[in-house]
Amino acid sequence: MTLTRVFVVTGANKGIGKSIVKLLLQDKEEKIVYLTARSEELGQKAVKELEQNGLKPKFHQLDLTDQHSIESLRDYLQKEHAGLDVLVNNAGMAYKGSSTVPFAEQAEVTNNCNFFGTLNVCDALFPLLRKNARVVHVSSMASEYAYKKLSPEMKQKFTDENLSIEGLKELINTFVQSAKDNQATERGFPQSAYGMSKLGETVMTMIQQKHFDATQPEKNILINSCCPGLVDTDMTGGKYPNPLPVDEGADTPTFLALIPVDAKEPRGKFCKLRKVCPFPPSS
Ligand SMILES: NC(=O)c1ccc[n+]([C@@H]2O[C@H](COP(=O)([O-])OP(=O)(O)OC[C@H]3O[C@@H](n4cnc5c(N)ncnc54)[C@H](OP(=O)(O)O)[C@@H]3O)[C@@H](O)[C@H]2O)c1
Repeated sequence: MTLTRVFVVTGANKGIGKSIVKLLLQDKEEKIVYLTARSEELGQKAVKELEQNGLKPKFHQLDLTDQHSIESLRDYLQKEHAGLDVLVNNAGMAYKGSSTVPFAEQAEVTNNCNFFGTLNVCDALFPLLRKNARVVHVSSMASEYAYKKLSPEMKQKFTDENLSIEGLKELINTFVQSAKDNQATERGFPQSAYGMSKLGETVMTMIQQKHFDATQPEKNILINSCCPGLVDTDMTGGKYPNPLPVDEGADTPTFLALIPVDAKEPRGKFCKLRKVCPFPPSS
């Protein structure tokens, strides 16, 4: 007997996350998909909208920046399903280019949500992952741009073969502290709070994959990150020419979430338009 697989998508009350839930439910495999959102009201509204289109997502509240919220989702999944098959870490935030919030605050808030929040969700939910589980981090090309702007010494640190999650946390914390000290450039970092948070997510992917391969190779867990493209959502706010429609932005994350259970690749990669991109980028 095969169990119905359980999927969780974070930040799914709108934008790319909501489209990922829709595409997952439109896929032929019968599955349980949790649309999660930090606002119960906005999450339930998105569930109702998808229901009107004949789809049946389930809902659970999840705020990446609230450990209690993360643990309640973990406990719920453990009790209800005794595990998890697919986790799509889509939730994220970015300040607008026009924001007057000081850079130090942007660096801290953005990384607390996108990098540390995503990592805390992983720490809580990874023990639930079953054989052939898939994890997708919705990162960004901004991670490439941020990498290219690091000093040579910082580039070496972010791509060190032996970099651990603890080491990566330290690097991101050093960036945040450097922003607070008004020394980001001097200490080898770009002036991009969002770019650094996404660089953290992309590098996290590779370290997490190595960890699973070393400790639980028999589980064939695949963890990948991706850029959804430049997509027409509240985050981009109509500011860029020719953004992709939201369903097209959801395509690559959904593709990675649905990597067939017997596949072994891609694993620990950064992808765009369903294709693996070399990371670190060449120049
Ligand atoms: N749009 C693009 O062109 C683009 C490009 C590259 C990467 N991305 C990435 O794609 C992902 C989705 O972005 P989007 O464009 O769909 O943006 P969006 O429309 O602004 O949606 C972001 C989602 O994340 C949620 N979120 C924010 N902070 C959260 C928190 N602390 N806990 C839980 N959920 C939280 C938001 O919830 P609320 O509604 O409550 O705020 C919303 O559901 C993000 O990770 C983004 O960085 C987007």
